[in-house]
Amino acid sequence: MKLLVANWKENPIMLEDALTLAKQVDHQEVVICPPHIFTAAISKVLKKASTGAQDGFYEPHGPFTGYVSMAQLAAVGVKHVIIGHSERRALGEEETVIARKIAAAFEAGLTPIVCIGETAEEHKQGKVKEVVDRQVRSAFSLLPAGSVATSREAIICYEPVWAISTNQVPGMETADTPEQAQTVARYLEGIVRGMPVTSRFIYGGSVNQENLAAFLICPEFSGVLVGGASLRVPEFKKMIKIAEHILM
Ligand code: 13P
Repeated sequence: MKLLVANWKENPIMLEDALTLAKQVDHQEVVICPPHIFTAAISKVLKKASTGAQDGFYEPHGPFTGYVSMAQLAAVGVKHVIIGHSERRALGEEETVIARKIAAAFEAGLTPIVCIGETAEEHKQGKVKEVVDRQVRSAFSLLPAGSVATSREAIICYEPVWAISTNQVPGMETADTPEQAQTVARYLEGIVRGMPVTSRFIYGGSVNQENLAAFLICPEFSGVLVGGASLRVPEFKKMIKIAEHILM
């Protein structure tokens, strides 16, 4: 089965609601990324799904007010961590910081889910490859060169900024296939080959019960990153059912 990563962003408000939500979609190959404050409680109740975080800081401990380290996340049972989400980049998170966070995630034994993707403006200007190329090279630039790739597995999420929460999906404006996203994933595969990391690719941006299958049948994608639809329980359950029927 392919991977369904649920990014709850800043939802819900109450712990009880978070636990209820998590229990209802507790399924193998689901990664639930709640707000930090709920990660410990959620990792305790999940039996099949795994717990992810939406960010983590690169320093393992110390005088860093308000931050949560990769080591602290790992200590409460977190297995995956989203790094470089465009919503954080838009708030000023720089590529050098993202690279440090990725190195720290590996150090703590977490699997980074590295988000990359172009803005609407960059898309219009035909800069897609240029942007994702730069983002991916920078993301893994702090891993020791020449070290063994198989010791680190990353998930790279191609998530065009203009496709997030807009119901606009690459390739689907004109045809019922996500071919633009596939082209980007194939391009990135070529770039990460030779880097000291093994990667698989997922797609993110307005994934829902209607378009999920079109992404999951793409050999380039091992899964999807889901925002809004992951908070709508009946829809997300339906998406799990769809994913169960699509082989790797
Ligand atoms: P939507 O699925 O709501 O477009 O959000 C995508 C996203 O940002 C996932 O990280």
